[in-house]
Amino acid sequence: MSTVYLNGAFVPKADAKVSVDDRGFLLGDGVYEVAPFYQGVPLCMDRHLARLERSLAGLRIDYDIAGLEVVLQKLIEVNELESADRALVYLQITRGVAPRTHYFPEGPVEPTVYAFAKAWSRPPEDAWSRGFTAITVPDRRWMRVDIKSICLLPNGLAYQDAREAGVDDAILVRDGVAIEGTHQNFWGVIGGTVVTHPESNLVLSGITRGVVLEVACDLGIPVQERAIQVEELRDAEELFFTGTTAEVRPCVEVDGRQVGKGGAGPVTRRLSDGFLARVAQTREAAAAATP
Ligand code: PDD
Repeated sequence: MSTVYLNGAFVPKADAKVSVDDRGFLLGDGVYEVAPFYQGVPLCMDRHLARLERSLAGLRIDYDIAGLEVVLQKLIEVNELESADRALVYLQITRGVAPRTHYFPEGPVEPTVYAFAKAWSRPPEDAWSRGFTAITVPDRRWMRVDIKSICLLPNGLAYQDAREAGVDDAILVRDGVAIEGTHQNFWGVIGGTVVTHPESNLVLSGITRGVVLEVACDLGIPVQERAIQVEELRDAEELFFTGTTAEVRPCVEVDGRQVGKGGAGPVTRRLSDGFLARVAQTREAAAAATP
């Protein structure tokens, strides 16, 4: 059975218990992070923790994250995931346990801190090359999706719509703009330029998005951070998603219409290869730093 972390202790998952008065359970009053490990080496952990701090500040949850990095690394070790090609840690912090009120608890409350680790895998090469499909769905989320809050109901409903339509994800559309996927950022290759929504309150500032922007810059691929109008999807040469467990993932069909020539496009492939090279460099640097 997996070992999880709950409020300072590593415990078997079955023994991890949270109060029914937890504000995460009653009100969705909490934030989360998902961070990847490649053969036990974290990728961009500093950026994930910085985003966590911004999310906590956004909800005014007072919690000092010092020490969490060690906890997450230990979670990988105790679950014997150090040799896994790909693993992740999920970390959730809620405002804590208090009698239910919509406003914040009046007295001091200890946030509830929960984390688990698990392995995940990249799709096989042939499936990746064939690519992934999507539908467009209205973006019904609140106006602060830059905060990685645990309130994921609109994301879940849109993803369920996608599954029921027999496709791989939904592209969330607000005011005619293709913002992002249900759990991954969204990109286009339009007129030879790589385009993705700029950082704002309307989009999650993906850590993979940041790395892929750097990779594009290193490769000399022109990039523009701007809104992608939904009508532009029709003529885009390529579309793709990025995210912690998506890495770089080609999107080859939207609302039943083929994108570009179909299959993973050349720019998507270069960015994916560049991203995987970054992962390999991070692993090599970590190995070189180990005495
Ligand atoms: N999802 N956009 C949304 C709405 C997301 O939920 C995520 C991450 C991303 C990509 O961010 P990153 O590159 O930092 O993973 C974009 C996580 C993985 C999840 O909910 O499981």
